[in-house]
Amino acid sequence: MKGVILAGGTGTRLRPVTNIVNKHLLPVGPFPMIYWSILKLKEIKIENILIITNKDHLSHFIQLLGDGKELGVNLSYRIQSSASGIADGLLCAKTFIGTEKFVFLLADNIFEDSLESFIYKFENQKKGAKFILKEVSDPERYGVANIDRKSKKISSIIEKPKNPIFNYCVTGIYMYDHHVFDYIEEIVPSSRGELEITSVNNMYIEKSFVTYDILTGWWIDAGTHASLFTANKLIYEDLKKRGRKLGIYKR
Ligand code: G1P
Repeated sequence: MKGVILAGGTGTRLRPVTNIVNKHLLPVGPFPMIYWSILKLKEIKIENILIITNKDHLSHFIQLLGDGKELGVNLSYRIQSSASGIADGLLCAKTFIGTEKFVFLLADNIFEDSLESFIYKFENQKKGAKFILKEVSDPERYGVANIDRKSKKISSIIEKPKNPIFNYCVTGIYMYDHHVFDYIEEIVPSSRGELEITSVNNMYIEKSFVTYDILTGWWIDAGTHASLFTANKLIYEDLKKRGRKLGIYKR
């Protein structure tokens, strides 16, 4: 299986530093933020990875990561020409993926759980998508899954609901089959002018087959000053707890 990491966007909620630096290059613990997504994929033997970023920052990523050899992975790059949403960014992965199933990570999602069991289940899932959820106290900040009480299936996802009735956030950890690219081509921009990943995910719910799993460890979207600070705290606590000598931290 291949991996795709989205590291574009404008990082408006982390200004002023993101006026010049890509959000995903800011430090989280001892590494630039993007390392954590790469290491999560490497840990489960996904070494063929595409990084999607914008044209202003592409050279920074290449300078930092090159072809990925130093981190033990094989990196390719694509440019998202404008900040037109997560689904627009993902469309840049179409030729890289071909007809395979893959994992898609938003590089500002930092989390504790291993992806191993989720990937194993998705490999055995014949078609569709798998979403990874996390119970949160501030669901209005995210895409939120409505889970049918009887069937326990996701019936819809609402992006940043004003009055959420559920508190399971759909994290930026997604698994798709290649039909995701057909769905992206069918959706229309939201009121904020973006191709929303939530619109794509709702199409999967309507037209295909969706499963989900729930994270049990900590998870954070490090897209704001406060959450970036928390991500740093959590990573340092985690490194202290588990020791710095874990294989995945070796370079
Ligand atoms: C994006 C998605 C949202 C998802 C979140 C996870 O939100 O639109 O559905 O729950 O990532 O981090 P954003 O961080 O772009 O506001």
